[in-house]
Amino acid sequence: MINISVKDLDGQVHEIQAREGDSLMEALREHEWGVPAICGGLCSCGTCHVYLDKDWPGKLRQADSDEQDLLDEFDNTKDNSRLSCQIQLLPEHEGLALSIAPEE
Ligand code: FES
Repeated sequence: MINISVKDLDGQVHEIQAREGDSLMEALREHEWGVPAICGGLCSCGTCHVYLDKDWPGKLRQADSDEQDLLDEFDNTKDNSRLSCQIQLLPEHEGLALSIAPEE
């Protein structure tokens, strides 16, 4: 299991455990405070948007063009934005920290 720290939209921090190989979105949508992930991971809705904490953007695989194109459509996208459905959890993600982005 991989330990992840998640700040929800109310500013509350949750420590969760996620299965290696799952997407980050799958780990987040299990929770009431998590992400709705309306498209189920097809990279088409953007409702799984998160902000990675400062040490993490450079440690994850870069967003591909489909992910980046969708992020570019949102006003609240930042340099540390990612779509959590596009991040597959690996052992090196132990300790990942992020915040849930507000919906557009
Ligand atoms: S779940 Fe829809 S874009 Fe990620």
